[in-house]
Amino acid sequence: MRLDKYLCDMQLGTRSQVKEAIKKGLVSVNGIRVKSPYFKVDERQDDVNYTGNTLAYQNLYYYMFHKPSGVVTATKDHRDPTVMDLLPDACGKELSPVGRLDKDTEGLLLITNDGELAHKLLSPRKHVEKTYYAECSGVLTADQITLLENGVDIGDEERTHPARVKLLSQTDCSYAMELTITEGRFHQVKRMVQAVGGSVTYLKRLSMGTLTLDPALPKGSYRPLTEKEISDLKQLTSTTSAQ
Ligand code: URA
Repeated sequence: MRLDKYLCDMQLGTRSQVKEAIKKGLVSVNGIRVKSPYFKVDERQDDVNYTGNTLAYQNLYYYMFHKPSGVVTATKDHRDPTVMDLLPDACGKELSPVGRLDKDTEGLLLITNDGELAHKLLSPRKHVEKTYYAECSGVLTADQITLLENGVDIGDEERTHPARVKLLSQTDCSYAMELTITEGRFHQVKRMVQAVGGSVTYLKRLSMGTLTLDPALPKGSYRPLTEKEISDLKQLTSTTSAQ
């Protein structure tokens, strides 16, 4: 593969940034400085060194996406824009969103081509926590909080698993809360709120496992995960066990 593609795959910059770095002499292959972005490297055996550090090639990509309302969580859709349409870097990387947010839900969406990690994060046996910020119409009494926390009948065979509720504010006809659940059933948060007599008017996912929506990431934008964010997620899914 071309040296500039190799460096892009390693998320060391855009194609023009890595070309610039190569021309500046910051890259060597098998101990020899290479100044052409077209130089061919064998990613399985060549020793590529960037600013003094040897790189270990990998072509797994992880992006944090701040989903806005109005786009669907799919790779393709005939009617609506999809989250992938807003991710120009996706081209050719076989990326997919991990789990789904409803069209009108905003917030954290992990997008990756690491199928193994995606599978573990979504596995019901892993009980990965997802925290949502929800604005709702209705009232939320202490009894209703207990119901949500202990498990509520949302019309499925099984009640929902235990959850955590943090009531943030309340008026006589509306409230805002953070709800942490460990499952990913269809419209789960909306159905849980309905089951206690309310209705969700705004929903945003704040976190998934150890991954928290970056407050500096504008709606509709994405950024690569940091090494720490990736390793924390891998660590979580390797240790989180069935209850
Ligand atoms: N629960 C919902 O009801 N909707 C979402 O988008 C995510 C969780």
